[in-house]
Amino acid sequence: MIKVIDNALTKDQLSDIKEEVFTWLEYYRSQDMDNGIEGNTFGYPMIRPNKYAKYMDDIIKKEYPSKKYMFTHSFTRVYFNNSGLKIHLDRKHLDLTASVNITSNLDEDWPLYFSNISIDWERYMSKDEEALDHDLFESEFDIYLKDCTPYYTKPGQAILGEARLYPHWRYPLQCRKDQYYVQTFYHWMEIK
Ligand SMILES: [Fe+2]
Repeated sequence: MIKVIDNALTKDQLSDIKEEVFTWLEYYRSQDMDNGIEGNTFGYPMIRPNKYAKYMDDIIKKEYPSKKYMFTHSFTRVYFNNSGLKIHLDRKHLDLTASVNITSNLDEDWPLYFSNISIDWERYMSKDEEALDHDLFESEFDIYLKDCTPYYTKPGQAILGEARLYPHWRYPLQCRKDQYYVQTFYHWMEIK
């Protein structure tokens, strides 16, 4: 089940993260390591989002009182014009994900789509039982694409859910070259 959590991070926490994001961007641009104006940046392994992992952890405990999750890591991505996110499932051990809107200067929200249909991992498991059978999954994309919900967020809001069970994606972002969208992802592993 996918939920939108209001005020997952405060304005001050968002500003703190934003400052680090733009420091990274500036550095990578100065080194020509990131084109900075087209497509997705890679995920920045930043320090500041992890300062707030405990706050996120408290939300998880409240939202899933009967389950035990362990925070594993966060990463942050900046999206520019022509960015996208193909339909996918999160990898093994990323049982729960919170995707937090950090900041954006887009003219309108850029929704994250989640299928309303969860996958049956037993059906899609590859022979080595470690990964998804991508060919089979791809051949059945339509089932998941047809029945979906777009999730819109404001800065500070988080989309929270089992991203390993529900296929999710974003359609290509069309915006000006000076526009951006920043998301931090927090991940947890379920302890059974
Ligand atoms: Fe994902």
